[in-house]
Amino acid sequence: MMMSTTDAFLTCHGTPNTNIVPTIAASISSSSSSSTTTTTTSRTRTISSSSRKMSSLAVSASSSSTSTSTSGTSTSSNNDNYDIVHVDLSDGRDYPIYIGTSYSDEQASSMLSSHVHGNKVLIVTNDKIAPMYLEKYQKLLSADQEGKDVVTLVLPDGEEYKSMEILQLILDKALEETLDRKCTFVALGGGVIGDMVGFAAAIYQRGVNFIQIPTTVMAMVDSSVGGKTGVNHPLGKNMIGAFHQPQCVFIDTDTLSTLPDRELQSGIAEIIKYGLIRDAALFEWLEDNMDLLLKRDPSATRYAVKRSCENKAEVVKADEKEAGLRATLNLGHTFGHAIESGSGYGTWLHGEAVAIGTAMAATMSAELGWIDPDLVQRTYRLLEKANLPVELPVDSPMDRATFLRYMAADKKVANGQLRLILLKGPLGNCVFTGDFDQTAMIKTIDEFVAECCGPNS
Ligand SMILES: NC(=O)c1ccc[n+]([C@@H]2O[C@H](COP(=O)([O-])OP(=O)(O)OC[C@H]3O[C@@H](n4cnc5c(N)ncnc54)[C@H](O)[C@@H]3O)[C@@H](O)[C@H]2O)c1
Ligand SMILES: [Zn+2]
Repeated sequence: MMMSTTDAFLTCHGTPNTNIVPTIAASISSSSSSSTTTTTTSRTRTISSSSRKMSSLAVSASSSSTSTSTSGTSTSSNNDNYDIVHVDLSDGRDYPIYIGTSYSDEQASSMLSSHVHGNKVLIVTNDKIAPMYLEKYQKLLSADQEGKDVVTLVLPDGEEYKSMEILQLILDKALEETLDRKCTFVALGGGVIGDMVGFAAAIYQRGVNFIQIPTTVMAMVDSSVGGKTGVNHPLGKNMIGAFHQPQCVFIDTDTLSTLPDRELQSGIAEIIKYGLIRDAALFEWLEDNMDLLLKRDPSATRYAVKRSCENKAEVVKADEKEAGLRATLNLGHTFGHAIESGSGYGTWLHGEAVAIGTAMAATMSAELGWIDPDLVQRTYRLLEKANLPVELPVDSPMDRATFLRYMAADKKVANGQLRLILLKGPLGNCVFTGDFDQTAMIKTIDEFVAECCGPNS
């Protein structure tokens, strides 16, 4: 059944007019045409650490390295060990994302200290990360200034601890240590720690400064940027939270050396997402360089993280509070969240479920006739190259009813209408819309369910 045109959702302008969808599609893509890329350039500034001279990327030759340097969104040289991507926001809340490798202690310490206001710092991490990195960051944050008091809190590791109860421990610690409103919270870890510490910073004494030090690919390319913070509620993931932007994001890609392969691959699903929704050049680069990324090649990693942060920064700048455009970052997430929740906790990592969801979104987009079937093939091939799943296993408990039940609870449902991010047009273009033929969605779900459990289970 076709949804009514008046129900059609429109992103940026909020006008319920289906005719506008092509315009929206164009405005939310970035990519392929050089004129659009130029616009992109003016919105996000990326500055190399030293000379700021334009040069081709140090990463292995590929279509996108040429295109990126041509566009002027990035500069890099063989001598530099970091880039800075700026998140431009209103009201003086701009902040830098440092993305680098092999930082000297002096470099890291001075970068971090320049964003610490006040004398008291609370570093929060978990019991997996603490033995590897806590002492180092405690030293770096203490090094620059006499009399700085750096205290630490180590929480249990796991998504199940991203809760109000554990959040309370952060607030307790801050009060016990008599941290005042000028203190700085530091989140050292993956997305779980980043989201929870960011939320604690948002509500402690009505808001204190915080710094993100992400240590997973997922956190480096997505969760640490953009100020979405929060915890889970027993009745829903990320249901309690606030928008609260950090003072800076400090990324040392060397920390990925200890990240398990599966976690690395899970984060790559979000990088592929940026390519599909708005950055064709990045997608093409990934097609050529996935092996390097999986091997954690420092240049390739730095490039992929930087491009992802540039994409995220541009989207956040244009739509900080998710009035429309920011929702496009959820490609594959509505199907993915249903898979994550419906399969039982711990079955899938977030990026793995998103990978299957992305395969579903691409399949459905082709079913609607919105993209060329060749793009579906390329999407599957790239996800598989990253060792990500593109189908449900035979023993999956997911069936059509379970999909629909979880999808109906999605945050993007408005006035009872389900809205999805779907691909439309050439690579790098998408739409966020409720105006689609539902039979295509049901057919897609049935196809994926049938692959595991027989037709229409
Ligand atoms: N705020 C946002 O915009 C946003 C966006 C995407 C995801 N998220 C949230 O992020 C969370 C998922 O983040 P994640 O994938 O980073 O999961 P995570 O934080 O649970 O980290 C994954 C695992 O890797 C471990 N780990 C982290 N860094 C490590 C390192 N360098 N070496 C070895 N082990 C390391 C962690 O302890 C954990 O066991 C979810 O809660 C999700 O809701 C938020
Ligand atoms: Zn995600």
